[in-house]
Amino acid sequence: MRQRRRIPRLIGSLLLFATAGVAVGQTPAHSSSAAEPEVRPLGRIVPVPASVAPEGEPYTLTHATRIGVDAASRESKALGRYLAGLLRPATGFPLPVVDQAAARGGIRLRLSPEETALGDEGYRLRSAPEGLTLTAREPAGLFRGVQTLRQQLPAAVERKSVQTGPWKIAGGTITDSPRYAYRGAMLDVSRHFFTVDEVKRYIDQLALYKINTLHLHLSDDQGWRIAIDSWPRLTTYGGSTEVGGGPGGFYTKDEYREIVRYAASRYQEVIPEIDMPGHTNAALASYAELNCDGVAPPLYTGTKVGFSSLCVPKPVTYDFVEDVIREIAALTPGRYLHIGGDEAHSTSHADYVAFMDKVQPVVAKYGKKVVGWHQLTGTKPADGALVQYWGLDRTPAAEKERVAAAARNGTGLILSPADRTYLDMKYTKDTPLGLAWAGYVEVQRSYDWNPGAYLPGVPESAVRGVEAPLWTETLATTDDLDVMAFPRLPGVAELGWSPAETHDWETYKVRLAEQAPRFDALGIDYYRSPQVPWPAG
Ligand code: ACM
Repeated sequence: MRQRRRIPRLIGSLLLFATAGVAVGQTPAHSSSAAEPEVRPLGRIVPVPASVAPEGEPYTLTHATRIGVDAASRESKALGRYLAGLLRPATGFPLPVVDQAAARGGIRLRLSPEETALGDEGYRLRSAPEGLTLTAREPAGLFRGVQTLRQQLPAAVERKSVQTGPWKIAGGTITDSPRYAYRGAMLDVSRHFFTVDEVKRYIDQLALYKINTLHLHLSDDQGWRIAIDSWPRLTTYGGSTEVGGGPGGFYTKDEYREIVRYAASRYQEVIPEIDMPGHTNAALASYAELNCDGVAPPLYTGTKVGFSSLCVPKPVTYDFVEDVIREIAALTPGRYLHIGGDEAHSTSHADYVAFMDKVQPVVAKYGKKVVGWHQLTGTKPADGALVQYWGLDRTPAAEKERVAAAARNGTGLILSPADRTYLDMKYTKDTPLGLAWAGYVEVQRSYDWNPGAYLPGVPESAVRGVEAPLWTETLATTDDLDVMAFPRLPGVAELGWSPAETHDWETYKVRLAEQAPRFDALGIDYYRSPQVPWPAG
C-alpha cells in the first residue's frame, strides 16, 4: 500500500495547487496519439443519450460566440458562467454570458417550465450552424445538458491552456432524460481522510457523467470526520488518525457546508452517512461512556470490520445519536441521512432491531428520511426509507428475498452490488490497490448487468437507482481514487442514466475508449483495461 503524504493541511493544499500548475501542459502518462474526429458523432458520449437525431451541419464555437441565459434567473446566469468557465481556458474565447436576446447565433441555455416531458433532469440539445440551444424544464436539466455539450466537443476542451480547435458540435437533436432518479457515488473519507479540495475534485468528475448524488461515509472505526459541537472529541480525538496511522482529519461545519454548496452547484445532493451501531470504534474511543463497560478502546488504524458496537441498552447512546443526527440534519439541505447498519457483527440481532427501532424515528424527527445498508431489512425500515443493497451474486437467496420483500412493501432500493459497483475491488489479481473480498471486478463486469432485473422478486418501480461506492482502506491519494474509479465509474453512471434498451457492452466499450483523451486532458489516472479498445498510447 502506498503511504499517504504526512503533511499539514495548509501546506497540503498549497502543494496541491503547485502540482496542478506543473501538471498543466505536461504529457500525461497515458497520452493518446490517436487523432480524434474533428466532429464527434452526435450522441457518442457517456452516458449514451436516450434519443439522438443527427441532422445537418455542425455548430462551430468561435471567438465571437456568446452564451445566452435568462438574465432574470440567478440559476440560469450561474449555469452560463459555469459553461463559460469550462470552455474558456482551452478555447481562449471570451464567451461573454449575456441575455438570450443578445446571443443570436450563440449557445442558448433556455429554461422552459412548460417542457414537462423533460422532467427534473432532462434536456434537449439542438445543434446547427445557426446556433446551439439547450432547453430544460429545470436548471438541473440544463446542467446535465451542459455535460453533453462538453463531451460532444473534442477532449482538448478539458485542458487548462489554449488549444487549437476547431470546436465543432455535430448537427442535430439530442433529447435526453435519466432512467433512474438516483445515480450515486460514495466516497469513504473515514478509512483515509480526503480534504475539501479533494472531494470537490471528485464531485467534478462525477458531474461529467451526470451523477446526482454524493454519499459521504463520514464515520467508521478508523476516524470520525465531521465536527459535532455537542461531542467535540469525536473529531479532535476520534478524527486524529486513519488506516495506517496517518494524521487523519475532519471537516469543520463550515468546510462541510462548502462541500454541500459545491455539490449543489453541480446539482448533486449530498447524503451524509454516520454508520451505526457497528463501525463506531472512533466514537467509542472518544467517549468512554458510550461503551457498555465504560472503558474507551484505543484508536484503530487497521482494516478489520465488525468488532465495534454502540451500547444498545445504555440511555446515553440515544442522547449521543440524537445529538449527532440533529447536528448533521441541520447541515443537510438534502432529503436523506444514511445511518449505516452494515456489518454489526458485535451487536446481537435483538439489540440491532431495538437500536434501529429507536433511531429511525429520530431521523424523521429532524425532517429527514433514512437510508441504510440492506441489513436494515432485518428490521422494519421506516416509511420512505431507502435501502442500499451491497450483496453479491453468491449472497444467499434468503437474504436477497428479505430485501425483495422489503421492496415489495414499499422500501426503495439503491443497487450497489459489491461484485459489480464497488470501485475499490481489484480489477484483476494484478491490480496493486484495492481489495478482493467480493472478487475481481473488471470493466465489463461492472457495466454488464441490468439494475431493473437484478434482484429476483423486486418490482422494477422499487429500484430508485444505482450507486458506486469507493471504500478507501487501501486508497490514500487522489491518484489512487482515480485509478480505481476510472474507468468503472462512467459505466455505473451509464447504467443509472441511459435507457435499458441502449445497454450494450460492444458499443459501450467503444464510447468508453473514446473517453481516454478526456481522462488525459483532465489529469485523471485510469486503468487501461485490456477489455477496452483504447486509442494507441
Ligand atoms: C459495506 O461494504 N460494508 C457496506
